[in-house]
Parts: sequence; structure tokens; C-alpha cells
Amino acid sequence: MHYLYSFPILFSFASIVSSSNTTVDLSWHAPPSTQVSDLKSVINGTDVWGFVFNSSKTPASLPYSTYNWCNMPHVRSSEYPKVNSSYILQYVHVIHRHHKRTPYAANTFPRESYAWECSDEGLYYGGATFTGANANTSASTYWSVFTSSSNPLAPQGFNGTCQFPQLTSGGLDDSHQHGKDVFGVYHGLLGFLPAKYDSRKIQFRVTNNVITSQVASNLIPGIYPLLDSKSVPLMIQPASIDSLEPAYTCSSASSLYSSYGVGSTNANWTAHLTASSGLASALDAISGISSSATAWHQSWDHYFDNLSARLCHSKPLPCNSTTGTCVTQTQANEVFRLGEYEYNFLYRSAGPQTLEYARRSYGIWVAELADHFRVAQNGNDSVIYRHDVAHDGSISRLLALLQIQEMVWPGMGSEVVFELYSKHNEWFVRILWGGQVLRSSSPTLGNEVDMVPLQNILAYFDGLVGRGASLVPGLCNQS
Ligand SMILES: *[C@@H]1O[C@H](CO)[C@@H](O)[C@H](O)[C@H]1NC(C)=O
Ligand SMILES: *[C@@H]1O[C@H](CO)[C@@H](O)[C@H](O)[C@H]1NC(C)=O
Ligand SMILES: *[C@@H]1O[C@H](CO)[C@@H](O)[C@H](O)[C@H]1NC(C)=O
Ligand SMILES: *[C@@H]1O[C@H](CO)[C@@H](O)[C@H](O)[C@H]1NC(C)=O
Ligand SMILES: *[C@@H]1O[C@H](CO)[C@@H](O)[C@H](O)[C@H]1NC(C)=O
Ligand SMILES: *[C@@H]1O[C@H](CO)[C@@H](O)[C@H](O)[C@H]1NC(C)=O
Ligand SMILES: *[C@@H]1O[C@H](CO)[C@@H](O)[C@H](O)[C@H]1NC(C)=O
Ligand SMILES: *[C@@H]1O[C@H](CO)[C@@H](O)[C@H](O)[C@H]1NC(C)=O
Ligand SMILES: *[C@@H]1O[C@H](CO)[C@@H](O)[C@H](O)[C@H]1NC(C)=O
Ligand SMILES: *[C@@H]1O[C@H](CO)[C@@H](O)[C@H](O)[C@H]1NC(C)=O
Repeated sequence: MHYLYSFPILFSFASIVSSSNTTVDLSWHAPPSTQVSDLKSVINGTDVWGFVFNSSKTPASLPYSTYNWCNMPHVRSSEYPKVNSSYILQYVHVIHRHHKRTPYAANTFPRESYAWECSDEGLYYGGATFTGANANTSASTYWSVFTSSSNPLAPQGFNGTCQFPQLTSGGLDDSHQHGKDVFGVYHGLLGFLPAKYDSRKIQFRVTNNVITSQVASNLIPGIYPLLDSKSVPLMIQPASIDSLEPAYTCSSASSLYSSYGVGSTNANWTAHLTASSGLASALDAISGISSSATAWHQSWDHYFDNLSARLCHSKPLPCNSTTGTCVTQTQANEVFRLGEYEYNFLYRSAGPQTLEYARRSYGIWVAELADHFRVAQNGNDSVIYRHDVAHDGSISRLLALLQIQEMVWPGMGSEVVFELYSKHNEWFVRILWGGQVLRSSSPTLGNEVDMVPLQNILAYFDGLVGRGASLVPGLCNQS
């Protein structure tokens, strides 16, 4: 298939192109306004719209589909939307954010008022040769974090026995449950996955950030508790070109982002920072963060991670030991609303830039997905199931490219599933977000991305990023 397509110049975007039989609309479509995109509701609201921020377990009184930052909803047999049995499931590709963890060191206050212990788990790290039956054995070794009385330096952020970041034991358990739930659907309910692990049929992939491997090592036995061998390969690309994280360099995407998003002076972006400057000053006075600390004030990311990581692990909100002032739940709620608002803006509401940014910075992963569909359709792939463990930056770019209607900050474990079906000689794709059919603003993907003809999905992906991501290097080098 050939698509009429020309390279767009910055801020001038491609729109409708057609091939012999497929008309695709490659343009950005505004998402509907919601409470998350409404600055008034963000600044002057009180609750967090019923979202959960303080436990991996969504209260039974709320639907399973409720937004839970600590542990987002994913496919589960009790909520899974079954398809008409005339469709045959052919290929499944799951991508989700890692589960809950300690905060990144950069998001910790200069001095924390309590320690954080991780001595209830080990982070295994090692290497083993593959030289056959007589190979020297390797020990199963794990990291044990310590400080010593002869080392006078205090670690950044929390004292204690954790890495910042690392998956917490609660996050490892959530990863395990995620695996069980996926297996409950794709084996238990649908009989699609084999009962036993088969490396020719199933592939797991991680990024160069070790926290995704920590998730995988607990996710996999959730799916296959009785592994014949405890070894399972985790696919990983070289760090410099990793498409999943994503970690490849795309300078035009970075400059585009900094023209409208974090760090920019675009008034559409700075409006919420101005409106919330009082909250920032109040929190700085408690945390000891300097008002000139750029990273803490050009977005709400750091305070958000800082406060939410505590609450997800049932730790108290922080206090200042000198003044005795503590961060209140009301303040934390406002930080959470602001964080949600920021992701909504950065990945959808800001305008066509969000789609342009996504296709440049996530185009390679999308092209890989498109090729997996093509190979599966040709009956040439032994792999029927791929499962990628990634980050919020991965999921948000993907959701921007899919033009999700209600963009939020993808919380811990946030999941997107691509299901490829055939029916007689026709092929279709369904996309699930949080275990339910994803709603998109793109007319090509449909209001509900439910049994969209494969050729339309491929035309959309190919049109935006090129087959084999052929457009991406050129787009990334544009100044
Ligand atoms: C276009 O679609 C129609 C109806 O689905 C089909 O009859 C026709 O052969 C298709 N044409 C091409 C060029 O694929
Ligand atoms: C919040 O409420 C105050 C007081 O009513 C008002 O001045 C301000 O404009 C409101 N903020 C937003 C963003 O609507
Ligand atoms: C979480 O927050 C909600 C709303 O603020 C509150 O009702 C609930 O008791 C909290 N749950 C836990 C486990 O702290
Ligand atoms: C599947 O769809 C066909 C055609 O719309 C319909 O006749 C059939 O009843 C459906 N089957 C099920 C199991 O819903
Ligand atoms: C929150 O930020 C403070 C100040 O930098 C830091 O000491 C603390 O470790 C952070 N906590 C979390 C959970 O990020
Ligand atoms: C085991 O290690 C020794 C070095 O201690 C090396 O000489 C030997 O080749 C290794 N054995 C195998 C089977 O690789
Ligand atoms: C953390 O450890 C440093 C020394 O390593 C010590 O000075 C500081 O008081 C400790 N903080 C807490 C909250 O225990
Ligand atoms: C700011 O938002 C308005 C209204 O949505 C839009 O028309 C304008 O282009 C945006 N400005 C920039 C610089 O993105
Ligand atoms: C406590 O608050 C004071 C006054 O705002 C500030 O100077 C100091 O850095 C804070 N201390 C800590 C340990 O966060
Ligand atoms: C399947 O793979 C074989 C071997 O690589 C290749 O020759 C063949 O063309 C492929 N078939 C399709 C339909 O792509």
C-alpha cells in the first residue's frame, strides 16, 4: 500500500491521506473537556474526582475500573469485555507501566523525617554463562543496601535500606497479581495462552531501567507459577536506541516538547503554575526545597511523586521537624489534581503538538508493533503473546499517539492491550486501556477502538511513523 504523505513542517500537520481503499485521518483531534482538563476544577476543587492515591487496593465500594494511581486497573476475567465468538484471537501485545516503587532520589526532599526500609526483599542481580551442561554454576545474588558509620555522608532523601527507586515488596506483589489476572483472561477465559510457559510463543520485554526487570521477575511467575526452568529471557534493546522506554535520541521531539510543555513559557502551560504558586510556596516552606529549585517548580512532577509514593505505601505525609508544620491531605489532593492536569495537557489538550511529539518520540515502538501485526497476519510468527514492561513516559506517548479521549497520568501498572483478531479472511484490532475498550478522538480509530480493520490501524501507524519507522529518523533530525 502506498500513502500520499509529505513531511510536515513544525506545527503544520498532515491530515487526511488515502490509499486504494483506506482513507486515514492522521490529524490531531481535540479531546473532550473533562474535570481533569478544567483548570478551575483543578485549582479550586477539593477532592481528587474519586481517584485513589493511598492504597493498591481499590475499595470494594468503587468499580474496579476506578483510577488508582498506586495500582491501575488492568485486564481481569471478571471485567473482561468478551468479543463475539465469530472472531478468532490471533495475537496479543500487552504494554504496562511498572508497579509501585520507592521514589526517584531526585524527587526526595533534601532531608526526610523518616527512613524507608526494604529489607523485606532482595534485588537479584547476576550473570551466568550458557556453556552447556558442565557450565560453572552461578550464585543467586542480591543487593543489600547499607550505610556505614565510617561513611559520614547522608544519602539523598531517605535513610534506610532501599534503592531510590526500586520496586517495593507491595509493588512486587502487585506485579504478581497482574500476571495472574492476565493469565486468568488469556488462558482461563479464552484458552489463548498455553498452560505452560513456551519461549517460542511468549516474549517478555523490559527497558534499561532495572525497575522493569524487577516487575518482570514477579509478573512472570504470576502467569506461569510452574516454570520448568527458572530462567526466562527478557528482551531488551541497547540503551542508546531503546524504543520501549523510549531512550533513543530525537532532538526535534525534545525541542518541540520544550516549546509547549515543561520548561516552556507558553502561556497555556504556565497558567496552572501561576495559579498554583501559593501551594508551591507553602510546600517549599515545609520541605526545605528552595524556591529557585527549577526542577521542583517547572512542573508538579516532583512533589507528586514525592507525596504519592508515601501514601501508596501507607506512610504519613511529611512534616517539617523545625516548624512542626505537615503537608495536609488537602494540599496533597491539589498536587494530585495538578499532576493529572499536566499529563492531560502535555499529551492531549495542548494541541496538535502532542501527536507530533508522540509520533517522533514513540514512533519506533509503534512501528515495531505494526510489524508484529503484519507478521502475525502472514502466519509467520511463532510468538502469539508479547508483554512489555515500561514507564509512564512510554504509556503517555502511546496514549497521545492513539489520541485517547480522557488523558490522565498513567499510574502504577497502567496497561494498554492490543488484540489482533481474524474473522474469515478479515483482520481486526481491539485496544484495551485499564481492561476496557479504549476510546479515541481519532475518527480513523473510532470512538471505541473495537474491531477496527487492521488495514486502517496499519495505515494510521504507517502514515504517522512510516513503515519500519522510516519517517522517524528524518523527523527527529528536523530543526
Ligand atoms: C475496496 O473495497 C471493496 C469493498 O470492500 C472491494 O470490493 C474492492 O475490491 C476493494 N478495492 C481494492 C483496490 O482493494
Ligand atoms: C479560584 O477561585 C478564586 C476565588 O473564587 C478565583 O479568584 C480564581 O480565579 C479561581 N481560579 C480558577 C483557576 O478558576
Ligand atoms: C484513602 O483516602 C480516602 C479518601 O481520602 C479515605 O476515605 C480512605 O480512608 C483512605 N484509605 C486509606 C487506606 O488510607
Ligand atoms: C456474533 O455475531 C453474529 C453476526 O452479528 C450473530 O449472528 C451471532 O449471534 C453473534 N454470536 C454471539 C455468540 O454473540
Ligand atoms: C520528598 O522530597 C523530599 C525533599 O526533597 C525528600 O527528602 C524526600 O525523600 C522525598 N520523598 C519522596 C517520597 O519522594
Ligand atoms: C569454569 O571456570 C573455570 C575457571 O575457574 C574455567 O577454566 C572453565 O572453563 C569453566 N568451565 C566451563 C564449563 O565453562
Ligand atoms: C539519616 O542519616 C544521617 C547520617 O547518615 C543522619 O545524619 C540523619 O539524622 C539521618 N536522618 C534520619 C531522619 O534518621
Ligand atoms: C493556546 O491555547 C489556545 C486555545 O486552545 C490555542 O488557540 C493556542 O494556539 C494555544 N497557544 C499555543 C502557543 O499553543
Ligand atoms: C523546615 O522549615 C524551615 C522554614 O521554612 C526551612 O528553612 C527548613 O529547611 C525546613 N527543614 C527541613 C528539615 O525540611
Ligand atoms: C514467511 O517467512 C518465510 C521465511 O522467512 C518467507 O519466505 C515468506 O515469504 C514469509 N511469508 C510471508 C507471507 O510473509
